Amino acid sequence: MRFLSHPVLRGTFFFGLLAAGGFAMADNPVPARYDEPLRPQFHFTPQKGWMNDPNGLVFYGGEYHLFFQHNPNGTDWVNELHWGHAVSRDLLHWKELPDAIHPLPMPGGRVAGAWSGSGFLDPGNTGGFRTGAESPIVVAWTATGLGQCIAYSSDRGRSFTPFSGNPVLPMAPDRHGDWDRDPKVYWNEDAGYWTMAISVTHKGVDFYSSPDLQHWTYRSTFPGLFECPDYFPLAVDGKEKRRKWVLWDASSRYYIGQFDGVRFTAESGPFVLDRGRNYYAAQTWNGVPDGRRISIAWMRDGKFPGMPFNQQMGFPSTLRLRTLPEGIRLTKMPVSELDKLHFDTRRWRGATLKLEENLLRGISGDALDVQAELEPETATALELRVHGEPVRFTKGTLSALGATAPLPLDHGRIRLRVLVDRTSLEVYGNDGAVSMTSALPPSPDNSLALTAAGGDAKVVSLTVSRVRSVWPR
Ligand code: FRU
Repeated sequence: MRFLSHPVLRGTFFFGLLAAGGFAMADNPVPARYDEPLRPQFHFTPQKGWMNDPNGLVFYGGEYHLFFQHNPNGTDWVNELHWGHAVSRDLLHWKELPDAIHPLPMPGGRVAGAWSGSGFLDPGNTGGFRTGAESPIVVAWTATGLGQCIAYSSDRGRSFTPFSGNPVLPMAPDRHGDWDRDPKVYWNEDAGYWTMAISVTHKGVDFYSSPDLQHWTYRSTFPGLFECPDYFPLAVDGKEKRRKWVLWDASSRYYIGQFDGVRFTAESGPFVLDRGRNYYAAQTWNGVPDGRRISIAWMRDGKFPGMPFNQQMGFPSTLRLRTLPEGIRLTKMPVSELDKLHFDTRRWRGATLKLEENLLRGISGDALDVQAELEPETATALELRVHGEPVRFTKGTLSALGATAPLPLDHGRIRLRVLVDRTSLEVYGNDGAVSMTSALPPSPDNSLALTAAGGDAKVVSLTVSRVRSVWPR
């Protein structure tokens, strides 16, 4: 990411400017086309413009809100980003709304880009932003050069009003371009106040707390992570009494430990959640009613030549803390909603994968979901070839598109889940103990092949489904 340097500007004149106006617009009247050749079929992309990190993830009133770093005016990243906005009732079908947060005016005609941040509900109205029956949705973001800002919505996220006292956390005066950034805000139930994590370059993650979202107190620093922190509790192996916290950064490095509302204390880590080439800046949804911790990541650096949009999101995943042979680890798998998009499903059970024979001959598609449990037996390598690209398992290692990860046999078997879309390949091993998210080079070859080398292998079970497009046609 390029960072253009903005001088740091402060002063009351400046804060006055920030108080000006709300951001309100009707639902987007632009007709969506969504029929371009490189448009992913079941992954989120904006109608047009550049997109990077997911922002402001919050569930409210039956809707998952997905905000994102957006340049509505071109297909390149620029400093002066907006927050794009889409909503979904099922994490599959997204309706894009007008941009929700815009760059803020600064003296000298410049603007402060709306960089990454988070979204959350304030049902207790601690911030005093409630104006009607709806619970306020509050978002926190980094206005470049200014500091951490908040805005609130009383109409289910259809319009946002920036807080008149922005920035609630001014940028430290010695920051020039490498802004302190990416506020992740939660209500801490045990402590009874809000906490905010921000990334401070060359330092790590700073934690702050606040009773009212307006006044923030520095609490502690966790050293060593960079950009887009997120932190959340999860039950280990589903046991609520064994709750631990996870703290991660944009590169999906994470620690497991405890967070008491003041400081994060690591018990183990760092580990890496996703070993693919294009997984970046993942965030999790606040307020999901069924208790799932659901994440989505930007699939950084995909190539979309000639498209009206640039970049795509990964597919949403459910996160779990599980005890694996090597210890407690964070795992992720695609959300189960994906099953609703399946069609043309083919199934195998107890088949033999004969040496050099392709079990999937004749099966193809630009959007596919493959689920397999395989026993290598005498085979020395197993290969699922997707659009000409091998996903390979050999000598306890899983590899795809230049990424590799150890994948130990579990009772002599491996479990694989592979999501294929026009421009992406997401590979999961052993129920998400391993995951690799990578951009898939577009290819006229839409075929699938499953083969064994060195001997025969056993297909304990195999399911191949085509995946329906989520876009209106
Ligand atoms: C991560 C990041 C964030 C920043 C945003 C700017 O990709 O660099 O730290 O807020 O992108 O677009």
